[in-house]
Amino acid sequence: MATDFDQLVRDGLGALATAADSAALDAWRGAHLGKNAPVMAALGTLGALPKEDRREFGQRANQARQALEQAFDAASQRVRASELERAISAGAIDVTLPGRSLPRGRLHPAVQTLRRIYAIFAEMGFQVYRSRDVESDDYNFTLLNIPPHHPARDMWDTFYTTTPNVILRTHTSPGQIHVMRERAPEPIRVILPGMCYRYEQITARSEIQFYQVEGLAIGRHITMADLKGTLTAFAHALFGTAVRTRFRSDHFPFTEPSAEMDVECFVCDGAGCPVCKHSGWLEILGCGMVHPVVLENGGYDPRQFSGFAFGMGPQRITMLMHKIEDIRYFFANDLRFLEQF
Ligand code: FA5
Repeated sequence: MATDFDQLVRDGLGALATAADSAALDAWRGAHLGKNAPVMAALGTLGALPKEDRREFGQRANQARQALEQAFDAASQRVRASELERAISAGAIDVTLPGRSLPRGRLHPAVQTLRRIYAIFAEMGFQVYRSRDVESDDYNFTLLNIPPHHPARDMWDTFYTTTPNVILRTHTSPGQIHVMRERAPEPIRVILPGMCYRYEQITARSEIQFYQVEGLAIGRHITMADLKGTLTAFAHALFGTAVRTRFRSDHFPFTEPSAEMDVECFVCDGAGCPVCKHSGWLEILGCGMVHPVVLENGGYDPRQFSGFAFGMGPQRITMLMHKIEDIRYFFANDLRFLEQF
């Protein structure tokens, strides 16, 4: 118990008061708080003391150490501030230099488009409904009016798994059945975004994994006019009110009648250019009136209910909007591409 901790602290504080620069502070810390400093050495002897003395000795040693540490922190701030001031007045630091900007992350271009699509449909009262990526063959095909062995299945090259009947969804349309079975007989107005998978040759336009945004509206008096009005309003919100739209007849097994919607090429204003393959029009999505078989499979009586559905590829839309000529850029993680958006 011979250590006089009060004296140790007094000595330390006295020495600290004369430390005028960073080097002196470092030296002081080594001498008063380093491994061989008296207060540390005292703490090291704790185990050798009689048991009844240890508690009080330990407390006093720790108080002394804390007092020295606090004094050191305060002195560090003081010295750093005065060093900075000296450097500024000596002209060593140009305080007029602009600060270094931190690199900022940004949203992926496909996600930016997805969010615009969500916002546009949210304004029209469509909720977002999330459905699963791993599907059963029934939901992906059969319940959508595409029975086993039907040639229409060739429209979707499928990733099968080793588990019978389990596949990766080839489109977001199976979500239609999920949401209908959950909500029937209530009216529905949802969009169903998500990743889809197709066992396809990867090309500049086609990936094996890509986003789709599905849309579904079910109610008692929904007509083709509602479909055309909704999708035209969507195209005007996304591409501008001046853009013209057109609907071309098409075929999907789960809609009847079916159509594709085109927008007038916004690169050449319809005059014809390489982006629209000189047709003046850009294909945006597939759509149609929900087939009675699908309504029935979803739990709606087709004599009382009708609806429309549509499906679009937000990456293809992003490619058109930014004149991106290869879809493979989206998942290549190349910063030179991503930093442009
Ligand atoms: C369908 O998948 C239908 N389920 C869409 C639909 C829904 C129609 C509801 C009617 C009613 P399609 O195979 O055309 O249709 O794909 C829709 C969109 O997904 C395409 O227009 C395209 O933008 C995108 N797409 C399809 N395959 C790929 C691919 N391999 N890579 C990137 N995008 C793709």
